[in-house]
Amino acid sequence: MMRNNTVVIAVVLLATCCIANANASASANEFDGVRTSFNSDWKFSREARGGAEAPQFDDRSWQPVTLPHDWAIAGPFEPKYNARNGGLPFHGTGWYRKRFSLPTDAKGKAISVAFDGAMYNAHVYINGKFLGNRPFGYVGFQFDLSEHLKFGEGESNVIAVKMSPEDLSTRWYPGAGIYRNTWLEINDPIHVGQWGTYVTTPEITDSYAKVAVRTTIENSSDNASNPTIVTSVLDEKGKVVAETSGELAVDGRSIADLNQHLKVSNPIRWDVENPYRYQVRTEVLLSGKVVDTYTTPLGIRTIEYSANKGFLLNGIHVPIQGVCLHHDNGPLGAISNRRAIERKLQIMKSMGVNSVRTSHNPPSPELVESADQLGILLQVEAFDVWKIHKQMVAKSYNLYFDEWHERDVRDMIRQHRNNPSVIMWSIGNEIMEQGAKDGGKVARKLTEIAHDEDPSRLVAAGFNNPVGAIKNGLADEVDIIGLNYKPLMYESVHKEHPDWLLLASETSSVTSTRGVYHFPIEKYKTHDSRHVTSYDLIGPPWAYPPDVEFEYLSRNPFVMGEYVWTGFDYLGEPTPYGGKDHSGDGYWNADWPVRSSSFGAVDLSGFPKDRYYLYQSQWTKEPMVHVLPHWNWENKAGETIPVYAYTNAEEVELFVNGKSMGKKKKGIDKADIHVDFLRWDTEGEKDKVWKSPFRLGWDVEYEPGSIKVVAYTDGEVVAEKEIKTAGPPAKIHLVPDRKEIQADGQDLSYVSVLIEDKDGNLCPNAENLVRFFVDGAGEIAAVGNGNSSTVELFNVDYRRAFYGKAMLIVRSKAGEKGEIHIRAYSDRLAEAKLKIESH
Ligand code: GAL
Repeated sequence: MMRNNTVVIAVVLLATCCIANANASASANEFDGVRTSFNSDWKFSREARGGAEAPQFDDRSWQPVTLPHDWAIAGPFEPKYNARNGGLPFHGTGWYRKRFSLPTDAKGKAISVAFDGAMYNAHVYINGKFLGNRPFGYVGFQFDLSEHLKFGEGESNVIAVKMSPEDLSTRWYPGAGIYRNTWLEINDPIHVGQWGTYVTTPEITDSYAKVAVRTTIENSSDNASNPTIVTSVLDEKGKVVAETSGELAVDGRSIADLNQHLKVSNPIRWDVENPYRYQVRTEVLLSGKVVDTYTTPLGIRTIEYSANKGFLLNGIHVPIQGVCLHHDNGPLGAISNRRAIERKLQIMKSMGVNSVRTSHNPPSPELVESADQLGILLQVEAFDVWKIHKQMVAKSYNLYFDEWHERDVRDMIRQHRNNPSVIMWSIGNEIMEQGAKDGGKVARKLTEIAHDEDPSRLVAAGFNNPVGAIKNGLADEVDIIGLNYKPLMYESVHKEHPDWLLLASETSSVTSTRGVYHFPIEKYKTHDSRHVTSYDLIGPPWAYPPDVEFEYLSRNPFVMGEYVWTGFDYLGEPTPYGGKDHSGDGYWNADWPVRSSSFGAVDLSGFPKDRYYLYQSQWTKEPMVHVLPHWNWENKAGETIPVYAYTNAEEVELFVNGKSMGKKKKGIDKADIHVDFLRWDTEGEKDKVWKSPFRLGWDVEYEPGSIKVVAYTDGEVVAEKEIKTAGPPAKIHLVPDRKEIQADGQDLSYVSVLIEDKDGNLCPNAENLVRFFVDGAGEIAAVGNGNSSTVELFNVDYRRAFYGKAMLIVRSKAGEKGEIHIRAYSDRLAEAKLKIESH
């Protein structure tokens, strides 16, 4: 939800110029309903102590920054920080200051500053006055500045924000500072309030959709007012397809609601394949003149949940093929960058993902908007902790729960309840209250708040202790029972509670490192390499290979589907390395420098691991086949190499150096996998080896050359893949995900840096150090390579390849259009050049 961009664009330029230059004159109406980015020209310090809120405070030595900003991602990685949190310096105090001026014409307007989220415990001051604080780092908040501002020539205002994320406050890398976008809003005193619309579709048929809109109008003047509210539904082309208008009375210094009803003919549904997006435009008129324009997203779709049939979108059963995602964007840190987020979701979608759980906290607006746009269903989660903290994170949300939970849940829902992608709320993940006496009471309160804010969606929670949650009544207080890592319980829980809506809210937790294979295939806890084999079966004690979850979901189709832990690797939680929840001081540095997770199907830079293809083989229809491992095994000639193929076709034939190793049929010729997992033998399946119908496997005698898999359906070749033994590294190959980006200072091109032999084969063991030069209309935003066990920095102009690959992230420069020239060098390798356009 936002002020209407189409109306705003022309005005934004004016307003931005006027904010920067108090001399410029503007008529009063030029500020009506204007929301401008407030991201530029901030200053930042980690040294400042008292007094930094004072307007006259000397910040000349502070670092100039543009928001969103994550101070910790610059590093260094050091064991004096906690590997559980990425081994990065995220805790402590950081101050931000920004000086800005406003023209005299803006006087009398309602002026506020909005933060989409700030990590953690923001204290906000304007011109030395304390406006308030907001502890929770993941929720948007806004402060009214109007009373404290100065206007006109020669006057300036200073906003100061103190952030103080704490050590031992989180189980992953949170980021640090004002890591999401900020906005300045200049409105007429009569305007749509913050998140001031609630749009629902009470009835949808093929010929019409009823749209109900509740608009909250805020009057920040002393006088009563009678605005007219014109509400329209616009289609994707911007054409008005329904319109209504109404009046309401708002007393001075108060708010009032107006309910309106519209009808859209022949609605186009929003769904995962065709996420058609309407918009609701709200215009506030005084004496016939528009004083505010506000836009709300609208997707016309129905959602239903059934204890027997699972989840239904537009009346059709859609099994949830979901992943959990933490909020960080790998080498860019926790900053909310629209392109980084969109790319993350696109990569997930290409894996077959149709849903994301925003584990374990409210997402950024960019994530929700990208999900709307790409057709990805969201479970939006509120908390990882209520009143009782988890082990060794004593300073987490538990410190704030009593005072803030209601406000945080209401605000999370108000912010995202109009987005069609959101299909359910979650009030918590593996909350300790599952085992506490009053757990049910707390859950009831949270569920009631969620229902009150949004009766159109159900409320879930993820249980790792369902027995406790059932016993203490907590499970009865949510609408959807999320089971974390309990495939072997689906059947019995359903039998005992046939009315319950069941969801596999967290699954798998298998770990792997891209490019790494250990022989023979065996289950181990940790490995000397500090990496994890990519044969896709190693995980912590509560984990199950993806195959086991596939099997139990197919046996129990009443479960809505699963959210895999996780889609992408994330910073922090280096399981199986580093430590345990129970370690003495809460630090997970036992296997330093392992400092990020290996749970992802995709690594921290966005390179798919083998597991990505295992999910793709279950979740997509476009014919595909994948083979592992790579085929560069020095000194292993004659030894046995286990080969797996993942496919969605009927059968696969494996060729080694052109010689057929035989065809195998998916589902019939099963591959042995080690499944010595929790509760396994309670099912009578005591064997430590399970025959997976989801993989095809061969044991092959190694000889250099090539392996090739050919996939067939109905006897026809539908997909194939070949891996050749690569010769020595000879050149660098740069492959951008986008060759044209926008010159807005935010847009990104992710350039894959591949080390290849002279014939263009990827060298799967290469670790050449590559240096980058970027000039012209862009710059280096970050570098990475997916290695979870390194202290190499992200914000430098070089990177060592990790198993043949590295990632260069290039960002456009604001307002500089033209070519971006990229060159990559490495000793003894042919250099590479690339040109990207910035428009
Ligand atoms: C779950 C937890 C996740 C993550 C995962 C790792 O129990 O909900 O946040 O810690 O384990 O396997």
